[in-house]
Amino acid sequence: MRKIDIFDTTLRDGEQSAGINLNTAEKIEIARQLERFGATIIESGFPAASPGDFDAVQRIAGTVKNSIVTGLARSVESDISAAWEALKGSEQPHVHIFLATSPIHMEHKLMKTPEQVIETAVASVKYAKQFFPLVQWSAEDASRSEPEFLARIIREVIKAGATTINLPDTVGYATPQEYGALFRYITENVVGIENVKLSAHCHNDLGMATANTLAAIENGATQIEGTINGIGERAGNVALEEIAVALHIRKQVYGVETDIHLKEIKRTSQLVSQLTGSIIQPNKAVVGKNAFAHESGIHQDGMLKNPLTYEIITPELIGDAKTELVLGKHSGRHAFKDRALKMGFELSDEKLKKAFVEFKKLADRKKVIVEDDLLVLLTDQQINDSEIPVYKLENVQVHYGTANIPTATVSAYQPNGELVTEAATGAGSVEAIFNTLERIVAGEVHILDYRVTSIGKGRDALGEAVINMTYDGETVTGRDVAQDVLEATAKAYLNTVNRQLVKAGQKVKVAVV
Ligand code: KIV
Ligand code: ZN
Repeated sequence: MRKIDIFDTTLRDGEQSAGINLNTAEKIEIARQLERFGATIIESGFPAASPGDFDAVQRIAGTVKNSIVTGLARSVESDISAAWEALKGSEQPHVHIFLATSPIHMEHKLMKTPEQVIETAVASVKYAKQFFPLVQWSAEDASRSEPEFLARIIREVIKAGATTINLPDTVGYATPQEYGALFRYITENVVGIENVKLSAHCHNDLGMATANTLAAIENGATQIEGTINGIGERAGNVALEEIAVALHIRKQVYGVETDIHLKEIKRTSQLVSQLTGSIIQPNKAVVGKNAFAHESGIHQDGMLKNPLTYEIITPELIGDAKTELVLGKHSGRHAFKDRALKMGFELSDEKLKKAFVEFKKLADRKKVIVEDDLLVLLTDQQINDSEIPVYKLENVQVHYGTANIPTATVSAYQPNGELVTEAATGAGSVEAIFNTLERIVAGEVHILDYRVTSIGKGRDALGEAVINMTYDGETVTGRDVAQDVLEATAKAYLNTVNRQLVKAGQKVKVAVV
């Protein structure tokens, strides 16, 4: 069967989404999971964009061994040099250069003639080839470009040494027929295209990203690009899990295969959702909470008689095992470590100790500890850079009654280690908590968005709160979990503030609890 390479851009195009800001530890954690997921290529960032991006790309390049790690670069030497510095230690150095080719982008954004665009593209690929064995060249806004011009520039960049050609539907404008026809046209009109990889990159503005990507595969694409859970700018990129499952379930139709480990889908999806704070819509294909729920009586009856009547994908296929008890209140440190290792977590002794303490606290309050709970708990330890803590919640208490004014009392450690206690009222319990924390935290906070959801299933599932705020004028998203949603809310508020403090590079003292 023809092999399709999977190029994951969760950490680059996905991270460009409004409200998403991952720190380096979180990016490394996601990259490690993408490697387990089986991504052929991981686009780990845009090294020239900021020192933080550079650092993350460099560290991912040094960590990931079984996937190719790449970084984005504009068609300028300084970007390509920055990418080389960040990626030169990787197993197979790969760079992704892009330049717009549509009339509207060339005239109004680049302010270059088509001839100048060809010259720039060729020069950048030649420059990159001095360092990188693998050079991907993307024709930004390819789907709105003149096909004849596109074929011409592609011939030139292949001659200059490009090893992959990508044709993005940058603004999500193409229909499946049009996008498929573009791939057919390029495969039939570019000599040498058979010697390079041909890639599809679809955005979802008109809800056609999955159909467009599949149309590209049917018409000659050998690589497809997308993100986990479809995160990305505006309406997002194509969701890789949808493509992987569609190619598997309908392999008779598409006749292609990938290296994706389907059983890693659920975990990858949960991790990306947890760390980016972007909640998955319940009816999202493949990974939504309701993707396998059968509500209507007729469907349930059919399922009981024969699951094939209504179920084309099983939860097991994507690693969504039935909720089962994994550890209990009486489990010891050994069993806990063993379980963590089986789940792929290699924590230092110190982090394992902290995770075990958190596990015991949870086990005291929650009868059934399932894998979803452990995932959250262990991931939190994994990404916790010990020198970072700033504000830390000690205690939260809320008085609420339908006839009373909600009042919150919060004790928290400040960055200087001082424990402060404040109280305030609000229109509801959540506002009372926010108002109280505003008194504790130095700096100006405006809440932009606040959401609460459950981790896993059942009445005693953990609650997760996600908060998007501006803190001292900077937009930032944070999250945290707890058994109680009000505690999760208070912790998420402080987590969001802390993320911005860390991002701003402020020197803070570690709080001692
Ligand atoms: O959508 C797009 O055109 C891109 C390019 C940078 C490849 O993301
Ligand atoms: Zn894109």
